[in-house]
Amino acid sequence: MQEIKQYIEDHKERLLNELFDLLRFPSVSADPKYKEAVIKTAEYTAEKLREAGADNVEVCPTEGYPIVYGEKIIDSSKPTVLVYGHYDVQPPEPLELWKTPPFEPTVRDGKIYARGACDDKGQFYMHVKAFELMMRTNSLPCNIKFMIEGEEEVGSNNLGIFVKENKERLKADVVLISDTSMLSMETPSLETGLRGLSYLEVEVVGPNRDLHSGVYGGAVANPATILAKMIASLHDENNHITIPGFYDDVAELSAEERQALNAAPYDEEEYKKDLDIAEVWGEKGYSTLERTGTRPTLEVNGIWSGYIGEGAKTVLPSKANAKISMRLVPNQTSDKITRLFTEHFTRIAPPYVKVKVTPHHGGEPVVTPTDSIAYQAAQKAITEAFGVPPIPTRGGGSIPIVALFEAELGIKTVLMGFGLDSDALHSPNEKYDIFNYYKGIETIPLFYKHYAELSK
Ligand code: BES
Ligand code: MN
Ligand code: MN
Repeated sequence: MQEIKQYIEDHKERLLNELFDLLRFPSVSADPKYKEAVIKTAEYTAEKLREAGADNVEVCPTEGYPIVYGEKIIDSSKPTVLVYGHYDVQPPEPLELWKTPPFEPTVRDGKIYARGACDDKGQFYMHVKAFELMMRTNSLPCNIKFMIEGEEEVGSNNLGIFVKENKERLKADVVLISDTSMLSMETPSLETGLRGLSYLEVEVVGPNRDLHSGVYGGAVANPATILAKMIASLHDENNHITIPGFYDDVAELSAEERQALNAAPYDEEEYKKDLDIAEVWGEKGYSTLERTGTRPTLEVNGIWSGYIGEGAKTVLPSKANAKISMRLVPNQTSDKITRLFTEHFTRIAPPYVKVKVTPHHGGEPVVTPTDSIAYQAAQKAITEAFGVPPIPTRGGGSIPIVALFEAELGIKTVLMGFGLDSDALHSPNEKYDIFNYYKGIETIPLFYKHYAELSK
């Protein structure tokens, strides 16, 4: 422990500067204009893995963005940890809301502000540096494999193929991921589940062209109004989702499980204050922690139609669009929910419009075990580094590859994230606390130590 702390202290500035260099690459996977930067980020990541001491480092091409692989096999009789992370980031827009530019990392008040600071560059880079630390201090007790991808934020489509084609190379005893949140640095936690996802786009088409809203208004249905009504009808007065069959497969938690989940610290007043909302909202009969952790949801991520420029234009739009996502919980599956949504949305369309539904991407929900030695190792590591044991929580976000690792490779995951929900992931002014970054680098080698010991 002392040796770990000393190493971090001795290399403090470099550890931070290297992360800053990584954050300067605008590796936005969703927008093709950043293509070159995304590829450079993969190369930088590979170089840093090599420098840290990894063998067989490779920037593996895919149909999309490359996957960076590297490994250190010290002894085939020792357990193997597969570290997964992603070097791609979400688009930074809206740019005008950033206090400092998204790809010029800036420290304010002990926090690093940049797109990807927390999700996931700041977090996966802790693993590269913790690995370096273990290599340089001669204390790596397990085999380690790194797989850092560049398409997580757009659905990891090519990663699935890579995993299927590289089963032997990816063989491991556990997957370790830092891409989730903790409750706070004072009350550390470990996420034990992630929601799945069905993401699709809908289009409601009315007249064959935009019309004068005075000449035709009143006689022709307005697709924007129709879309708004259709979307509004997807929740009932109890905020249940109205799609027939939507809840059929949902695993209900036992009274004990619900109680354990609700024991996590949650201050509703703080929650509302942080978001500047007067009331929380959600499915009747469930707490906020349950609503985000254990219940499926439906959200409109974007909606557009007609004239949205400066000033006023009188127009009855020809069509209206929305991007809709549903978060899924065990035992829902993304294919089935996408099908149920499509059938329902098509069925509720009134005769004045035509409806088109286009699926984007999906991912399956997961619950990770809390009785495994890997989970115990994470518990021990966090307890040692933070002084208090972690609280198990259920995360609301999605990391589709976790279910795939289990299905394809039969490997379970430990979600040892160090972010905070308040780190503004996917929002303007994303940040990551410098404290969390160093704390992560300190905790990770402890995980390896305990995992190796418990595996004996
Ligand atoms: N790291 C997040 C997921 C996350 C964040 C899980 C916080 C738990 C707590 C990941 O990068 C992400 O944003 N995933 C997407 C899904 C993907 C298919 C676009 C998401 O959850 O929206
Ligand atoms: Mn992420
Ligand atoms: Mn993300």
